[in-house]
Amino acid sequence: MDAIVAVYSDWGIGARGTQPLVIPADRKHFRDLTQGAAVIVGRKTLGDVPGGRPLKGRHNIVITRQPITIEGAEVAHTTEEALELARQYDRCLVIGGDSVFRQFFPHMDRVFITKIDAAPHSDVFFPDLDADPNWICTEESEHAEHEGVGYWFCTYERT
Ligand SMILES: NC(=O)c1ccc[n+]([C@@H]2O[C@H](COP(=O)([O-])OP(=O)(O)OC[C@H]3O[C@@H](n4cnc5c(N)ncnc54)[C@H](OP(=O)(O)O)[C@@H]3O)[C@@H](O)[C@H]2O)c1
Repeated sequence: MDAIVAVYSDWGIGARGTQPLVIPADRKHFRDLTQGAAVIVGRKTLGDVPGGRPLKGRHNIVITRQPITIEGAEVAHTTEEALELARQYDRCLVIGGDSVFRQFFPHMDRVFITKIDAAPHSDVFFPDLDADPNWICTEESEHAEHEGVGYWFCTYERT
């Protein structure tokens, strides 16, 4: 299974329920890579999406412990249920947030990482794949800059 995440230079991914620094080109990169695929998303992260609605053009699998239905999404109440729902689709990416990344980490074999060369305060972190011998960076884009902040795209694969 794949995942996609934007990390700051300390592998921070967010603070107080949101991403303190967003790069517009990363939003486009995210849209391009997830288009047509299934995405597994935590209920809180879905709430942080503008409008709080499921992502258009993607099969949304929202994970929550609450007995709710969400228009335009399939709801899973456990990780196993989310994995089962994901099996219907050719491609599935885990898109966060923190608790979802952690729980699905053992199922990931490829992670698309946007590296943002800044370290705003984060209270949630993605595992540092550079420090993990089980992971290798197999592809790295050219470095670019947005309003003075450097960023680039990397693909990591489990060895
Ligand atoms: N940098 C990035 O690329 C990126 C991407 C996405 C998110 N983020 C960041 O991640 C942070 C949010 O992460 P988070 O951990 O607070 O929230 P989250 O993972 O998006 O959602 C947590 C919620 O998901 C549900 N859930 C989680 N595990 C479950 C399970 N095993 N079974 C059933 N439901 C389950 C629960 O919903 P209920 O409470 O409804 O039961 C839980 O409260 C924010 O700071 C956000 O900005 C960063």
